[in-house]
Amino acid sequence: AYTAEPFVPQGAGLEALREAAAGCRGCPLHRDATQTVFGTGDTDARVFLVGEQPGDQEDRQGRPFVGPAGRVLDRALAEAGIDPTHTYVTNAVKHFKWTQPPGGGKRRIHKAPSLREMTACGPWLAAELALVEPEIIVVLGATAGKALLGSSFRVTKQRGMLLEEEIHGRHARVVATIHPSAVLRADDREAVYQGLVSDLKVAARVLG
Ligand code: URA
Ligand code: SF4
Repeated sequence: AYTAEPFVPQGAGLEALREAAAGCRGCPLHRDATQTVFGTGDTDARVFLVGEQPGDQEDRQGRPFVGPAGRVLDRALAEAGIDPTHTYVTNAVKHFKWTQPPGGGKRRIHKAPSLREMTACGPWLAAELALVEPEIIVVLGATAGKALLGSSFRVTKQRGMLLEEEIHGRHARVVATIHPSAVLRADDREAVYQGLVSDLKVAARVLG
């Protein structure tokens, strides 16, 4: 089975993890991506945010949520009372998965990672969680939800609730919400954005 496990150093700090992840060959996704996009942020953070996978901009720049979805996320966090600089941000899958547009062309179209790929990449997420030991995990969107909470996860049913879960062998408090890129795709952006903010406020309340 695909797995990152043999590439993950035990007891490593963030920089050592990031360096090791740069050489991960745990699943085929490294082949078509520019680089590994590891998590970044405050390793003392109380809030740990998990997206799906890097997008086009993230793949080029090597950092999570630096593109349009990241700008939505930062604004929504601040509006919910969570300082974005006091969070740790990562993705369920660390390499950009994409496909060519039908008929060819240079644009790289985002493709959702498979369950096998999410499972393969899980050991990196487990190492990040062990390092940060957050008080609350915020799951951004359906793919991250399935990766962390299992394939029966439904964002429409479980968003905005404080969930008590077992994640990678540790008890965790989790709040799920939509992926911030859903705001950018929505017809009614403002309403969808306000929904994101209101879910993030549930996480903010846990912090007191
Ligand atoms: N979408 C994600 O899920 N993660 C990123 O890092 C960027 C966009
Ligand atoms: Fe390794 Fe994850 Fe990249 Fe697959 S997606 S090669 S498991 S870092």
